[in-house]
Amino acid sequence: MSRTFVMVKPDGVRRGLVGEVIRRFEAKGLTLKAMKLIRVSPELAAQHYAEHREKPFYGELIQFITSGPAVPMVFEGREAVTVARTLMGATDPAKAVPGTIRGDFGLEITENVVHGSDSPESAEREIGLYFQPEELV
Ligand code: CMP
Repeated sequence: MSRTFVMVKPDGVRRGLVGEVIRRFEAKGLTLKAMKLIRVSPELAAQHYAEHREKPFYGELIQFITSGPAVPMVFEGREAVTVARTLMGATDPAKAVPGTIRGDFGLEITENVVHGSDSPESAEREIGLYFQPEELV
């Protein structure tokens, strides 16, 4: 058993895709362990995306992720990080294959509907940023 961090980004919430994203993860067999609706603060966004601080898209990324409500979640299951990334598709929705979340619902690389941790280590770090231990059910 492993777990991963997933977040429906502000574009996904605005477009009413929260239920669709959760449905796909649950249909695959992952178990929802924690979830909430929040407005990501600039401070939290900076911690979350610290590894991208020097990237040219950093400013746009922080502006976008703080622009409206988002839905962070924790999913648990076998190979959770890899399975979640497979369900989401490529980071750039223009390259994501149909059948994946970004392949079916996205077109822009910044507004790409959903975030998922890229490794078990990132998952634990991101879960710790967004959730208190007692919020994992
Ligand atoms: P995410 O999985 O949340 O991790 C970092 C985010 O940066 C990524 O999804 C994209 O939404 C965003 N981003 C914007 N531009 C780029 C880019 N050129 N390459 C990678 N990620 C980008």
